[in-house]
Amino acid sequence: MFSEKFIKVLKSAQSVTVLTGAGISAESGVPTFRGDDGLWKKFKPEELANFDAFIKNTELVWEWYKYRKKLIADVKPNPGHYALVEMENIFSNFSLITQNVDNLHRRAGSKKVFELHGNIQKNYCIGCKKEFSDEIIFSKLEIPRCDNCGELIRPGVVWFGECLPEDQWNEAEKATRNCEIFFTIGTSAVVYPAASLPYLAKEHGAFLIEINPEPTPVTSIVDEFLQGKSGEILPELVKVIIKK
Ligand code: APR
Repeated sequence: MFSEKFIKVLKSAQSVTVLTGAGISAESGVPTFRGDDGLWKKFKPEELANFDAFIKNTELVWEWYKYRKKLIADVKPNPGHYALVEMENIFSNFSLITQNVDNLHRRAGSKKVFELHGNIQKNYCIGCKKEFSDEIIFSKLEIPRCDNCGELIRPGVVWFGECLPEDQWNEAEKATRNCEIFFTIGTSAVVYPAASLPYLAKEHGAFLIEINPEPTPVTSIVDEFLQGKSGEILPELVKVIIKK
């Protein structure tokens, strides 16, 4: 499955950075965004995943996020998530950057996780930024409002047109500049600035690996394209790395 050269590069690496997208959670039953049964095929992101839509259509946007929260509460990490936990314990300097908001990496046991697009299990007030748990959100039938300042409560995800959390982005960029191996896994590599990270890694001399059943815009610049499902490839990869 893997070339000798590739195995040699993997076994000699100290610093590894991984970028994941919705594809790594697909085998957990979480729909991706742009695949054939992707969320953006059924719903319109411009109506649901931006701040103006939230203000204009608060009830509809909350309905959609409560639907996604319930969906995510019922799913579990898959072998791909667990393989990345093992990789974090194998490589001396390992960073995991995710575009996913499903919290599955942390639920699998990953520690050093940079969440570029927020976390769907978090919520906060648009006025005073006070945080609220999902329990509180689901305890209210009406549109959730802050008990501190009365403003609307929103899901803790990054919407189209919004800036990424600065601290998460800065850490992600640093981990991308300073790695010997960069994996891009389960992402269509079309949403910026996250999609710029594989190019940045390449610029800084990293060995670039992509895991995806389909080619993406990044495939043409990678050093190794492992075509297939991350839940199948990653556990095989870990077996090869730990084999003496
Ligand atoms: N293993 C690996 N990759 C997979 C699998 C799998 N089992 N199944 C699907 N994929 C790949 C698809 O081929 C596709 O390239 O996962 C990718 C999913 O792409 P998108 O649905 O576009 O998801 P993502 O790249 O994470 O989207 C980026 O866009 O809508 C925004 O904020 C949202 O974070 C999201 C961002």
